[in-house]
Amino acid sequence: MLRTHYSSEITEELNGKNVKVAGWVWEIKDLGGIKFLWIRDREGIVQVTAPKRKVAPEVFKLIPKLRSEDVVAVEGVVNFTPKAKLGFEIIPERLEILSRAESPLPLDPTGKVKAELDTRLDNRFMDLRRPEVMAMFKIRSNVFKAVRDFFHGEGFIEIHTPKIIATATEGGTELFPMKYFEKDAFLAQSPQLYKQMMMASGLDRVYEIAPIFRAEEHNTTRHLNEAWSIDAEMAFIENEEEVMNLLERLVAYTISYVREHNERELKVLNFELEEPKLPFPRVTYSKALEILADLGKTVEWGDDVDTEGEKLLGRYMLENENAPLYFIYQYPSEAKPFYIMKYDGKPEICRAFDLEYRGVEITSGGQREHRVDILVEQIREKGLNPANFEFYLRAFRYGMPPHGGFGLGAERLIKQMLDLANIREVILFPRDRRRLTP
Ligand code: 4AD
Repeated sequence: MLRTHYSSEITEELNGKNVKVAGWVWEIKDLGGIKFLWIRDREGIVQVTAPKRKVAPEVFKLIPKLRSEDVVAVEGVVNFTPKAKLGFEIIPERLEILSRAESPLPLDPTGKVKAELDTRLDNRFMDLRRPEVMAMFKIRSNVFKAVRDFFHGEGFIEIHTPKIIATATEGGTELFPMKYFEKDAFLAQSPQLYKQMMMASGLDRVYEIAPIFRAEEHNTTRHLNEAWSIDAEMAFIENEEEVMNLLERLVAYTISYVREHNERELKVLNFELEEPKLPFPRVTYSKALEILADLGKTVEWGDDVDTEGEKLLGRYMLENENAPLYFIYQYPSEAKPFYIMKYDGKPEICRAFDLEYRGVEITSGGQREHRVDILVEQIREKGLNPANFEFYLRAFRYGMPPHGGFGLGAERLIKQMLDLANIREVILFPRDRRRLTP
């Protein structure tokens, strides 16, 4: 084993004991009779102190030959001393170079020299060596852990549905077409139809965490062409409020989990993540338009609230309601997909909602239409052909309970949670209009 401890695992009980640490050369300092080496690993930095009279000559001579970002392994004795910046140092007995780094480096992993996002993404492996970037991905890992914990705690079953599919779900645009032998197929925009079909199976409460593919033409700071969606669907609901209730608890749980388990990473990012207050405010679509009108922004009833409107509303909700998270619901039926249930006696509005986080939509969801004759009618109203949905409609003909669910964009959630400017920050290898490698 080349490593016995990560930097963060070296505690006072190890004082005087032998350990092995390994990682990338962060910095070297040569003061003649004493040489210093700082090694960075996943959890932080360790200082290796080599006084000439205390270490083997071959170790002493090797230190000045090291270059930034070489990979090294050190075995030595832990020495807790107030003289060391981190409170302790390692006096090396053995030093081995495991891999050499070429020079110059494509970007500066210490972050002292700033790099453009494109350069960073082209060299993502090295970008991740910067503590802030690594912190974001450690947080991302815990977001998924929290989500899974939450769903299992609530009696949800994890499912996996196909990503090569025959029909569009979220309207006809934004699809990536592909050839599937002799047939035309698409990459899945959403597990929508499949998770709904599971409601006819008796699985009752299901979730899926999987990529979604959207052929977004435009480069924006909130769209990816491949994103990760956290989808849920639940049966035997009375209304969309039950779904909103589950979603807000999921988001609050996830934020609390990150606050508790990523204290160090939040500190590295210098970010204060606030505990959200439940319940999140609910604003009807019509009320949202009124607020926007008061703020000088006109949106026609039936239209989508555009990015500017969302931002304005986000600021309003934060300043007036102290609410970074809030729902917009009771949307116009014309603005939402065919599978959403309309209100009885008020068919112009439907049981769809969006969850907004600091003025950006992170989730959409709602109660679905489970009555097959009405569903077929709604497919037609959207100008679609029910024949293309036969595989889906079949599941509604032999006992389909009332149900609802949501799709929560993982990157949108993390971006907004950490108040980052660009969604590309929080996915390892973003796919956008121009970027297909790395
Ligand atoms: O609003 P969308 O398109 O809704 C659905 O896919 C429904 N099937 C959900 C449901 O259960 N009714 O997408 C859901 C979420 C968005 O709120 C957003 O967070 C994320 O998925 N999303 C994207 N994230 C990044 N880049 C993109 N291009 C995204 N498109 C959607």
